[in-house]
Amino acid sequence: MRTALLAFALLLPAGGALAAPCERKPLLAGAVATVNALATDAGIRALQQGGNAVDAAIAAALTLGVVDSHNSGIGGGCFFLMRRADGEVFAIDGRETAPAAATRDMFVRDGKAVSALSLKGALAIGVPGSLAAYDMALRHAGRLTLGAALQRGRLLAERGFPLGPVLAARLNAKADDLATFPATRASFHKPDGTWSAGETFVQTDLARTYRALQRYGVDWFYRGPFAQRVAAWMETNGGLLTARDFAGYEAKRRRSVRSRYRGLEVIGFPPPSSGGVHVAQILGILENFEYSWKSFHTYLHVMAEAMKRAFADRAHWLGDPDFARVPRNLCANGYCDALAESIDPERAAVVEHGTPPRALEEVFGKHTTHIAAADSDGNWVAITATINTSFGSKVVIPGTGVLMNNQMDDFAAQPGVPNAYGLVGAEANAVGPGKRPLSSMSPTIVLRDGRPFLTLGGAGGPTIITQVSQTIVNHVDLGLSFEDSVAAPRVHHQWKPDVLFIDGTWLAGEPARLERRGHVVKRRAGLGVTQAVGRRPDGSFAAVSDPRVDGERRGRARTWDPRAPVSSGAR
Ligand code: DON
Repeated sequence: MRTALLAFALLLPAGGALAAPCERKPLLAGAVATVNALATDAGIRALQQGGNAVDAAIAAALTLGVVDSHNSGIGGGCFFLMRRADGEVFAIDGRETAPAAATRDMFVRDGKAVSALSLKGALAIGVPGSLAAYDMALRHAGRLTLGAALQRGRLLAERGFPLGPVLAARLNAKADDLATFPATRASFHKPDGTWSAGETFVQTDLARTYRALQRYGVDWFYRGPFAQRVAAWMETNGGLLTARDFAGYEAKRRRSVRSRYRGLEVIGFPPPSSGGVHVAQILGILENFEYSWKSFHTYLHVMAEAMKRAFADRAHWLGDPDFARVPRNLCANGYCDALAESIDPERAAVVEHGTPPRALEEVFGKHTTHIAAADSDGNWVAITATINTSFGSKVVIPGTGVLMNNQMDDFAAQPGVPNAYGLVGAEANAVGPGKRPLSSMSPTIVLRDGRPFLTLGGAGGPTIITQVSQTIVNHVDLGLSFEDSVAAPRVHHQWKPDVLFIDGTWLAGEPARLERRGHVVKRRAGLGVTQAVGRRPDGSFAAVSDPRVDGERRGRARTWDPRAPVSSGAR
């Protein structure tokens, strides 16, 4: 492997990735919201160094891969959505791809899907796409380089950072799993005790990887030593991924999903995300109803019924559009109106009976991460990134510090068999070579009179779709501030199981009223994590990080203005 690295060093010009842009542009004001203050700080620094919202969001994303590595990282995938100042929209698909040797029944043993295989270890891993997507986005719309975006993360990996309470708790909770593979054990496991918040967490191998990426660019990852290391590890651990799979990976520019909601334009992410289609569909159904605080219980009921219908369609129709025929009209007005027509405002409908998912308690977490950013030039960015469940496949590729995803679990291992989030799928989302698993990630940008005023997205598997829909409705229909729209209690229905999940914070009256309308109601803590940046009527930015994230709140969402260089904190 050392020889491969050397050969690579001889082949590529050194230092290019860190080169500063020659043109000096005015500093931009802006806002960044993430789940971690160190990552948000990296984003704000990018603005202070002359970057725009794209540089800020990507610097934050690459820093999250170091300081919040159980949720996302360069071993995973992402969807990057942006509306550039000139009005051009970029939807860059950095979703993982299945290996060329993948087969539709690769997770089936003795006729049954074995979730342990799609969740942990070699077979769970797809070719990661985040780096390719960030590289493409920076080339199209950034002001700074990939090297600059990696810098803060590299330093934090090299020198260490005080472990936050969330990561410390996750490391302890998953200690057994993290001890399975030697390189993972070396990076994340502590044999003689537990991790505590505040202790310094160093990731030397990951720092070296970030440094190599700064020096050699993404080819080092996809066509160089990293790909070779993965291939070597796969060969000895029963995996299917090859260096060829890595060399063939490409981030894809997709056509965004555009819809209208009460006169606003909503831009969402298209398949292989189901997010854009179903946020648009839910809003399209809701547009047939009027809400006010007075009719609030009807609002919750209708919202649940809209979600149920959207998730039923998701299970049947959605998959990688390069492999499956995904109908184009799922969020068309006529179809949404027909779905709205089928809703009884007084009574919950049974859309279909189904098998409940295997582990209800595990259905929703707060893994994955969303980064929202905007700048005073008019660039608006939404990135949702993930390695899927907490610590992904639990595999660190030896010598690299890179924790690999378990995104293969987002395929339907067998028709109708639920994945880790209780989601079922059909043929459209069956495993296939080179195919991208269906996602719920929903980076979204909303425009009023042709100008963006809100960028948002979330973490939490299927609840991402319902979080984004409700945050928009909270602001647009109920008139809540951006902060309150994110913080307000939520509901979630995903068709199967036929259960209406409601935030733990709802008052006692609501569940009872919903039950009287025929819903099976269960309380859940949280229902996901949303990040948003909004622009208020006076032109100022509101940066919002969901209060549901545990631990220290300060600094997770920040605005910055070069004319008033004291950074203002937000929620
Ligand atoms: O792409 C998806 O839909 C999932 N892999 C996202 C995972 C997620 O949000 C984890 N949070 N609980």
